[in-house]
Amino acid sequence: MNALDLDKLRREFPALAATDCVFLDNAGGSQVLTRVADRVRDYLLTSSVQLGASYAPSQRAGEKVLAARRAVAELINAPHDDEVVMGGATTSLMFMLTQALMPGIVAGDEIIVTNSDHEANIGGWMRLREAGAVIKVWEVNRDSLALELDDLDRLLSPRLKWLAMTHASNILGSVNPVEEVARRVHAVGGRVCVDAVAYAPHRLVDVQACGADVVVFSFYKVFGPHYAVMWVQRELLLSLPSLNHYFIGPEVLPYKLQPGNVNYELSYGCIGIHDYLCHIGRSLGVQGSNRVLMQAAFDAFEIQEDLIAERLLGWLRERRNVRIIGQPYAAGRTRVPTISFVVAGMLSETIVRHVDGHGIGIRYGDFYAKRLIEALELQAYGGVVRVSMAHYNTLPEIDRLIRALDEVIE
Ligand SMILES: Cc1ncc(COP(=O)(O)O)c(C=O)c1O
Repeated sequence: MNALDLDKLRREFPALAATDCVFLDNAGGSQVLTRVADRVRDYLLTSSVQLGASYAPSQRAGEKVLAARRAVAELINAPHDDEVVMGGATTSLMFMLTQALMPGIVAGDEIIVTNSDHEANIGGWMRLREAGAVIKVWEVNRDSLALELDDLDRLLSPRLKWLAMTHASNILGSVNPVEEVARRVHAVGGRVCVDAVAYAPHRLVDVQACGADVVVFSFYKVFGPHYAVMWVQRELLLSLPSLNHYFIGPEVLPYKLQPGNVNYELSYGCIGIHDYLCHIGRSLGVQGSNRVLMQAAFDAFEIQEDLIAERLLGWLRERRNVRIIGQPYAAGRTRVPTISFVVAGMLSETIVRHVDGHGIGIRYGDFYAKRLIEALELQAYGGVVRVSMAHYNTLPEIDRLIRALDEVIE
């Protein structure tokens, strides 16, 4: 297998060359591929007609939007492309899901949420209390910083309807054992909803292998536009009521959960993500199906990400006053390169503002995982400093960050 050609792949992201800024806030939003932007532009300038008419341009535009759905289905390994619901953001798709589930909730139904998720995968579930649901919280272990399976077992019961969890934490960077959780939840008759937002930029999503019933993530973290996808297992999706007009029935997949329809040009743009991943796979000398090519791309990304993450983690481990909020080592496939830390006696904001002055984009705060920051009692720091890397980041960029951090951290 060839090595990842970083110089070449960075040229796929024009913003990386257009400014001297080092982008290390990728878990907030990644840079966008030319392949994506070109498709959005192409759609707008050649295909802006309403879909569903019989005239040829409308038919052609409809085919482009369907091709986008097929590309996204392949990207996530959905068995059927009509299980692919697209919408503006993960947060809005989650609210859509919980609203669709609301009429099916009966008093006493149990729902497990974690206290380490982004609020997008907590708040909507909490609202199901209005329908009589009982919410239980799977709390992160304060020592191991992990969601421990033993703790989960104590929460499981035959009344469990849903468990909502994140595949990777947007603060801790840890990859959670979703497959094993899904096995245990299914064994008691429940279903699993997975937030894959912080996972999808670093590992190839496989909705079938992960065992979940619903998987949601946002494309603007995965080199694409501000847009999102929610995969819902087919029988489950069919069982949900329509949130669309009265004449669009529950059998109309996935349109029933896409009121107002999808954004055509952004959908079309997402094909660019699929193209890019396959292109990287091919450039590594790999041959095979598109999924094989995409997997090869992510395998190569993981090697690069571990390298740059370990550079920063190694430096942080040596600092007396630094507490890494997450696993302190990169190796082992159990973390993504989203690295959070606090410094004794310092506000996280002070560190980030200093780094801003060096033309390096990192950030501080709770990242909407407010319950996690509270559980770990990190409010006094103003939240954590978070450095979130993508595969296109380089060792010289991390060294530049370390030099900037070295000026403010003992
Ligand atoms: C882990 C995680 N889940 C959900 C979201 C929300 O995504 P969106 O902005 O698409 O609603 C974010 C955004 O930062 C996130 O990091």
